[in-house]
Amino acid sequence: MRDATKTAVAEQPLKELALEREVAADEVVVLDFGGQYSQLIARRVRELGVFSELLPHTVGVDEVRRRRPKGLILSGGPASVYAAGAPRLDPALLDLGIPVLGICYGMQAIVLTEGGRVEGAEIGEFGRSHLTVADPGRLLAGTPAEQCCWMSHRDTVYEAPPGFTALASSTESPVAAVEDPLRGIYGIQFHPEVVHTPHGRQILTTFLEDICECERTWSAASIIEEQVEAIRAQVGDGRVICGLSGGVDSSVAALLVHRAVGDQLTCVFVDHGLMRRNEGEQVITAFRDHFKVPLVAVDAEDRFLARLRGVSEPEAKRKAIGAEFIRVFEEEARRLGDARYLVQGTLYSDVIESGGGTGAATIKSHHNVGGLPDDLEFELVEPLRALFKDEVRAVGAELGLPERLVWRQPFPGPGLAIRVVGGEATKQRLDTLRHADAILQEEIRQAGLYRELWQSFCVLPDVRTVGVQGDERTYGYVVAIRAVTSDDAMTADWARLPYDLLERIASRMINEIREVNRVVLDITSKPPGTIEWE
Ligand code: XMP
Repeated sequence: MRDATKTAVAEQPLKELALEREVAADEVVVLDFGGQYSQLIARRVRELGVFSELLPHTVGVDEVRRRRPKGLILSGGPASVYAAGAPRLDPALLDLGIPVLGICYGMQAIVLTEGGRVEGAEIGEFGRSHLTVADPGRLLAGTPAEQCCWMSHRDTVYEAPPGFTALASSTESPVAAVEDPLRGIYGIQFHPEVVHTPHGRQILTTFLEDICECERTWSAASIIEEQVEAIRAQVGDGRVICGLSGGVDSSVAALLVHRAVGDQLTCVFVDHGLMRRNEGEQVITAFRDHFKVPLVAVDAEDRFLARLRGVSEPEAKRKAIGAEFIRVFEEEARRLGDARYLVQGTLYSDVIESGGGTGAATIKSHHNVGGLPDDLEFELVEPLRALFKDEVRAVGAELGLPERLVWRQPFPGPGLAIRVVGGEATKQRLDTLRHADAILQEEIRQAGLYRELWQSFCVLPDVRTVGVQGDERTYGYVVAIRAVTSDDAMTADWARLPYDLLERIASRMINEIREVNRVVLDITSKPPGTIEWE
């Protein structure tokens, strides 16, 4: 990501950053064999109330045992079990004395290890498929004899291993589910974690509840309780600072820390003048007035604008903003004097992406509010590092964070400066863009589409076009509307906004903003485009 405000500043040994938790709630470990749905499995397990960690398949049996999980799930993966270098299943993982569920590749690996027959098939099975259950056994208990499921595989199981029962078949899979309940080993060829498998949730529930005998106690409330304890233990009576950006991650992290250590926390909100309309005030009102969190709000608009003068190249803008951010933050940190701890809104997805989980890997520290230099020498407090984004939102809602902040779309650190494209981000251009953006946001919210969209915003190219308004020739700015759907910003599709809505937005922008006389819609997906224009 082109991201001056998410600079990796520290390489730390993983063990310092691993999810060291007291065993309070039951846990199920998901071993990742490289499947595209592996994170989703862990998320689903958590949604069902059981804490779940995603670990690389290479971690080794001792590492799994150390976590004392109540069950183990082996994920899907892209490889054929017969491919050279295909991830191998350590048979010792099947003898930990806890139930094991293999999904897709995970099932094939179990079947192969246990002496069943897996072969490459002529025809793969991708997408929706039909499952016929001959014997529901323990795993498929309570699900219909005929059901839909979602498949994605080419290797196929033809014979269950000795001692296993074949439970079901599908259109292209003679054996699509197996189990040996005495040893606690289960396998399904289809994906229970995706919504296209209608009984998937029930099957996972059976595995967690009836087979692993997990207590389903993991919830936003339990996360808060656990994190509050952990923060108190880490921080003691030390002083803590937190850079608030207004995004959901830093907001929730700050509230958790405040819940834990009260006024030992001071938040620093740097208003760089590149925010959306009213967003700065919303953050200040929520934290200072509503939550009574000690907050230093720095109005640094002039400083940032001065730094941006004459800068039009995108990376140069990011660098200028990143550097100024560090300077302002450092000044405030020094003023606060004795703070030893710095709150970071690092999420579990950052931990996983950085190779989290293996004993050998090192991990990058993601700075959500600024690439702060090492010599500030803070100890990091990262209360969200075990959480997925949707859990962060649930925790935020539970802590009473206003809905607007809980559901805020992602917003880049350098703000509107990288949306005044192909030119310098002057105060006047930023104000024009802010005005157009406010109209867009209002209309998108009014239409009930805000949450469905990953991001929606305006872009102001440094281009003027000719128009005619009230018999007069105009020469004004073009505003581009960018709205995308996405799961993770890695890929994105342009949103098919209704024509009526687009018309309303365009005519409001042209009527209400004197400088604007033309509105266009960006219909580029990612790839080949990026979400931002700069
Ligand atoms: P692109 O434009 O690369 O953006 O498709 C992917 C996601 O990253 C956000 N983005 C940024 N976020 N600082 C940030 O904090 C940046 O410099 C930056 N550039 C892009 C973008 O809004 C989208 O969500």
